[in-house]
Amino acid sequence: MKVALYIILLIIVVAGVSSLMHLYKVSKKNKTEMEKYSNTVSLTANLGKTLVIYYSLTGRTKDIALQIQKFTNANIYEIKTKEEIKQGPSLYITSKKQISSKNYPEIINDFPNIEEYDTIFVGSPIWWYTATPAVLEFLKQFDFKNKNVVPFSTQGSNYGSYFEDFKAKAKNAKILKGESFNNLDSSYNEQVKNKIITWLNSL
Ligand SMILES: Cc1cc2nc3c(=O)[nH]c(=O)nc-3n(C[C@H](O)[C@H](O)[C@H](O)COP(=O)(O)O)c2cc1C
Repeated sequence: MKVALYIILLIIVVAGVSSLMHLYKVSKKNKTEMEKYSNTVSLTANLGKTLVIYYSLTGRTKDIALQIQKFTNANIYEIKTKEEIKQGPSLYITSKKQISSKNYPEIINDFPNIEEYDTIFVGSPIWWYTATPAVLEFLKQFDFKNKNVVPFSTQGSNYGSYFEDFKAKAKNAKILKGESFNNLDSSYNEQVKNKIITWLNSL
């Protein structure tokens, strides 16, 4: 009995230490990356008539989408599920099942008419190293009709195969250079803004 308790305690300590080490490594990597964006950048991009399409459960992707909208004077469209997605531990299990089975949640299909747009940004949070089930469902239903499409993501630290998956699933899209954004605290807001503008200017 005592031995079992020691083993459980040891497992908890090892798991705690390794997750702390992971957090430390991620925050060091974020700091190094964002140092590149310390200088203020001016917007020179001209992407024509622009639309930003995004899904966001907890607001991170929405925040980036709204900044892109502001800088490019875009219209914006939010992908919404028919049933509310509830946050919590069970979301990890249901979303994993949905991604593996390709049985995604229903979404509201009042899709925008993209004929009038030159450039379309599409943003998703990363769930299980790829797009969220709602965005995967959107990609299943939507046809980009040979438009320029720019994917972006927000994530804890690892976007996995999102950009490859997106390219493979976005029907008739001419994919331009995407960008990913790790979740950062507000002390990085200026650098994030510079990162977005640098990316927009590169398109
Ligand atoms: C079910 C689930 C799976 C996730 N999987 C990943 C992942 O594979 N890699 C990662 O870096 N972050 C992962 N995250 C964290 C989210 O990508 C991150 O918090 C994202 O910015 C949330 O975007 P939102 O606020 O727009 O919903 C996951 C979050 C959830 C809820």
